[in-house]
Amino acid sequence: MSELPTHYDEVAYPSGTFFATEPAHMAALARMHGLTAPAPETARVLEIAGGDGANLIAMAAAWPNARFHSFDLAATAIANGVKLAAEAGLDNIRITVDDVLAAAETLEGPFDYIIAHGLYAWVPEPVREATVRLMGRLLSPDGIAFLSYNANPGGHMRTAIREMLLHRLRGIVEPAERIAGARQLLGDFAIARENDPPVLAGMRAVAAPMLDKSDAVLFHDELGEVYAPQSLCDVVAAAERHGLAFLNDANPSMVHDGLPGENVAEEDVVAIAQADDYAVLAFFHQTLLVRPGRAPRRGVGAGALAGIYASTRVRRTGPGAFALDGQEVELDDADMAELLGHLVDIAPLRLLLDEIELSVEHCVAIVQLYQRGVIWLYAVQSPCSLEPGEFVRASPLALAQLARGLATVHTLELRSIAFVEPGPRAFLALLDGTRDRAALARDWAGSGHGDEVTVDVALAQLAGAGMISG
Ligand SMILES: C[S@@+](CC[C@H](N)C(=O)[O-])C[C@H]1O[C@@H](n2cnc3c(N)ncnc32)[C@H](O)[C@@H]1O
Repeated sequence: MSELPTHYDEVAYPSGTFFATEPAHMAALARMHGLTAPAPETARVLEIAGGDGANLIAMAAAWPNARFHSFDLAATAIANGVKLAAEAGLDNIRITVDDVLAAAETLEGPFDYIIAHGLYAWVPEPVREATVRLMGRLLSPDGIAFLSYNANPGGHMRTAIREMLLHRLRGIVEPAERIAGARQLLGDFAIARENDPPVLAGMRAVAAPMLDKSDAVLFHDELGEVYAPQSLCDVVAAAERHGLAFLNDANPSMVHDGLPGENVAEEDVVAIAQADDYAVLAFFHQTLLVRPGRAPRRGVGAGALAGIYASTRVRRTGPGAFALDGQEVELDDADMAELLGHLVDIAPLRLLLDEIELSVEHCVAIVQLYQRGVIWLYAVQSPCSLEPGEFVRASPLALAQLARGLATVHTLELRSIAFVEPGPRAFLALLDGTRDRAALARDWAGSGHGDEVTVDVALAQLAGAGMISG
């Protein structure tokens, strides 16, 4: 265990949850490739460099029978995560200070799912190598590893902007001064000039969104000590040296990487995906790795979605009309519109796609909706309940966040939602599993908010938001 403060102790990195890293999601992608995957509900899950552990804390709150371990080098972040997990009463997660360089040698496993998000392209080569070595040593035979990184060729453009920033900031060490200097330079550089040649206009377009980043993310992601974007084929080669093989990308919009077609030779899959990276100037990857020799099915043929559940976050805005995050979702295909309508009706529950008859064309259309982010695919039913039992229990993480006075809480589906109105906050606080319906009605009536909404309506609203476990 390291006691030395790191740059991540100096400037805390924002904590977050990442849907794509959910075992239930990774297992669905394995099934799509005809592979078995460890049951997410009881899986052993490791996150390398998980910051304060927020991602696995949210999963641990949703899946009490799975076991989680998140470690990171930054002791300050770990102390926060340990405290939050204890406040949530979670006994299925460990959050520890560890260095991946040591963990690669000594950490004991195995693990069914291993996640390393936002680490690989920001650390020196020995740490990169240790990350993949750890995955290769501890991944269970049917397990899946998730490795995200800034990718090339897009990374080359970011490298050029980073070099410009570092040149401006030479000699400046104070984080606040570095951040202010970077913002000033970016603010100026990002402004389009008349007669900009197209390449320079493109560089300005890469710089502009950096200004939208929080100070902490700007400080670490753009100005950190190491920025080493990777090419997909190099990452896969590194993984192969440690007994791992490419499955696919976990970013829905990139799932075509691992599905180039059923008649494509396995040895060509990565080369095809790499060529596509060059063609589209890829910036980021979330590469899924499995044990070699498992012969993934490549392509969306018959039975591609067997055993897979679908779910949606879209809202219905009219008959056959939907919206997601304020954007209209247009569907030309009547079967898909009907399916989506059904998913809206049952949300946050998921539909097992085996329950409907699916042609190959339907499977392709569903995968396309998944690529657009309109639906999500999982290997298990949601941990949420729409019909809570007698003693209603909300997510223990949401209860702990509420008790801390936080304005946002996490649902059992890993989403963080703003939760600021006093009435709903008072109602949620009552759902700690100790009250039967009569006690709930009594305490809600005495809360000073009981006339705002009935217990049944309040329960239905929280259940619909994914806050209530079964
Ligand atoms: C960009 S942050 C990403 C945090 C989190 N995974 C996320 O995506 O939000 C990088 C993290 O890697 C951690 N880190 C860097 N080097 C490490 C090492 N050698 N061993 C363990 N963690 C390390 C840092 O402390 C930091 O929390």
